[in-house]
Amino acid sequence: MTTPLLEVDGLTKKFGGLTALNKVTFSIYPGEIVALIGPNGSGKTTLLHNLMGILTPTAGEITFKGQDITGNHPWDIVRRGLVGTFQVVKPFRNLPCIMNVMVASLVTRKKWGEWTKRMETRAMDALEFVGIGDMALERAAVLSHGDLKRLEIARAIATEPALMLLDEPFGGLNPAETELIANSIRRLHKGGRFGRLHSEEISMVIVEHKLADLMRIVDRVIVLNFGEVLTIGSPEMVVNDPKVIKAYIGKEVVFHAS
Ligand SMILES: Nc1ncnc2c1ncn2[C@@H]1O[C@H](COP(=O)(O)OP(=O)(O)OP(=O)(O)O)[C@@H](O)[C@H]1O
Ligand SMILES: [Mg+2]
Repeated sequence: MTTPLLEVDGLTKKFGGLTALNKVTFSIYPGEIVALIGPNGSGKTTLLHNLMGILTPTAGEITFKGQDITGNHPWDIVRRGLVGTFQVVKPFRNLPCIMNVMVASLVTRKKWGEWTKRMETRAMDALEFVGIGDMALERAAVLSHGDLKRLEIARAIATEPALMLLDEPFGGLNPAETELIANSIRRLHKGGRFGRLHSEEISMVIVEHKLADLMRIVDRVIVLNFGEVLTIGSPEMVVNDPKVIKAYIGKEVVFHAS
């Protein structure tokens, strides 16, 4: 059997008296696209932030490429090939878009001698990949919400990760903008060379509430509920699982595209 790229074992995160994650255990395999779903407040963002090193777990272990990364610094985790995007995007608003992307890839440069020029080219390739190359020299502050979401993905792509964690990449977007980002995700996953950027067998974990859009692009689904794994399975299995339907009862959710 293939060795997992990421193994999460008994991950627990407490905020004071609140247990936001309780003994969460799952694996992600090379090349997989996995959806991470669950009602509001079920712990999805908290889980991603623990994997990214932004939060330190209270208990449990995170293993990436066979090495224990529990509690490591975010920049160390990015350098190893695990990168995440933020649900609430916070670009450097006064910096040009291209600088926003370059800052992100600074931590992954292989050695001090890596030329700024090369980083700039890679950043430009990432912007072009998500379709906002023409905005490279504009300040991030002038971008629409949809373009900011694309900038966020460009920042992640420029680090050439093995595993990308996307927190609500379609959040607040209209159907046309959603389709643009979904297309970028599909193209990236297919792999290949995009200018100076290289992507091969990239794995992704995508958090989204727009489940109908999401179910079309994922291989497996992990469902969180009250900080615990409710179930893990194929999209068909999960959307028909009575436990999952019950967890979402009373919430506005569309599992199937109309
Ligand atoms: N820094 C924090 N301090 C205290 N409690 C927190 C903190 N971050 C998250 N929480 C709590 O942890 C729980 C999980 O929140 P989280 O943001 O991970 O949920 P989510 O599944 O991402 O929700 P949404 O779908 O609304 O984005 C919630 O009860 C939230 O209030
Ligand atoms: Mg969240």
